Amino acid sequence: MSTPESTSYNAVLMGREEINAQLQIMRVQPDAPLFDFKPGQFAVLGLLGREARVPEADDEEPPAGPDKLIKRAYSIASSSVEKHYVEFYVTLITSGQLTPRLFAVPYGGRLFLGPKASGMFTLDRVAPGKALILIATGTGLAPYMSMLRTMLVSDTSRRFVILHGARYSWDLGYRGELESLARIRPNLTYIPSITRPDEDPHFRGHTGRIQALLEKGIVDLLGGVPLDPAQADVFLCGNPDMIWTVKEILAPRGFTSDHGRQAGTIHVEEYW
Ligand SMILES: Cc1cc2nc3c(=O)[nH]c(=O)nc-3n(C[C@H](O)[C@H](O)[C@H](O)COP(=O)(O)OP(=O)(O)OC[C@H]3O[C@@H](n4cnc5c(N)ncnc54)[C@H](O)[C@@H]3O)c2cc1C
Ligand SMILES: NC(=O)c1ccc[n+]([C@@H]2O[C@H](COP(=O)([O-])OP(=O)(O)OC[C@H]3O[C@@H](n4cnc5c(N)ncnc54)[C@H](OP(=O)(O)O)[C@@H]3O)[C@@H](O)[C@H]2O)c1
Repeated sequence: MSTPESTSYNAVLMGREEINAQLQIMRVQPDAPLFDFKPGQFAVLGLLGREARVPEADDEEPPAGPDKLIKRAYSIASSSVEKHYVEFYVTLITSGQLTPRLFAVPYGGRLFLGPKASGMFTLDRVAPGKALILIATGTGLAPYMSMLRTMLVSDTSRRFVILHGARYSWDLGYRGELESLARIRPNLTYIPSITRPDEDPHFRGHTGRIQALLEKGIVDLLGGVPLDPAQADVFLCGNPDMIWTVKEILAPRGFTSDHGRQAGTIHVEEYW
């Protein structure tokens, strides 16, 4: 007789890197051949309510039913050329349903991976060669990792500027890889910023929220890309309040939302 697990689970956790206790990079390999996807798209991960939760998780009220498959969307961070696994960059929400269970899955443990990738947060509607300003808070960096890992190899003239906001320097996942990429690819500028420098006094980089850096003109100053919709499209991913605030800064400069049939120069992926 089949158990709920055997009918739901179709993938294995084949890689895990702990950035810190609340942040992980997870690699998931499906039993079947991996679906095709475009950089910027997301996939669904799931676990049954019966699974263990990490000890630091808050109490669940009410507890999830043991046979309920808890599913959430995660942006894919790996290159779309990679066919063996998909990589995700996940933060632990101690009050959440899925992430306390995801963080407790052991290396080699089984889980559900949705059968396809979805989403419109891709470069499909950006003119070839146009500069890209890629803005993220927290794990909102994930789709940009996929874009860069897939495209930077061949796209050597398009300008990419990444602006990444995190609380502390130890929350700047992928920092080493992005710094290395920026060193070898002059068309990439990586600008990380931390927002709680008082608790991280040894950090020597930029501080403050992303919108403050944008208003100071840092993208043009360091990346050579003006905040001009004729020259660049802007991607915004992560915290919905950050997205709202940055859109308010961009609108008077002539940027418009890319939405449904309405083509525009601001592309958005809200995580909640
Ligand atoms: C299209 C899409 C792509 C996403 N991609 C990612 C991703 O790549 N990595 C990732 O960690 N999450 C991502 N998320 C969020 C993810 O789907 C879950 O909501 C998150 O993991 C929390 O799930 P949970 O069941 O533990 O908590 P829930 O019970 O669902 O709690 C949700 C609450 O947690 C907070 N929250 C949710 N996600 C985040 C986050 N990433 N950073 C900070 N606070 C958050 C918000 O306050 C939200 O209201 C994505 C969401 C969408 C819609
Ligand atoms: N206990 C810990 O030390 C710890 C550490 C990391 C994460 N967590 C948990 O993990 C979850 C996710 O945390 P996270 O840090 O990845 O995500 P987050 O809370 O969304 O913060 C990520 C970055 O976005 C910034 N931000 C928040 N609102 C913004 C806005 N309106 N405009 C611009 N920037 C904004 C934050 O700045 P601000 O600093 O100004 O908010 C921070 O730099 C939370 O549930 C958190 O409790 C806990």
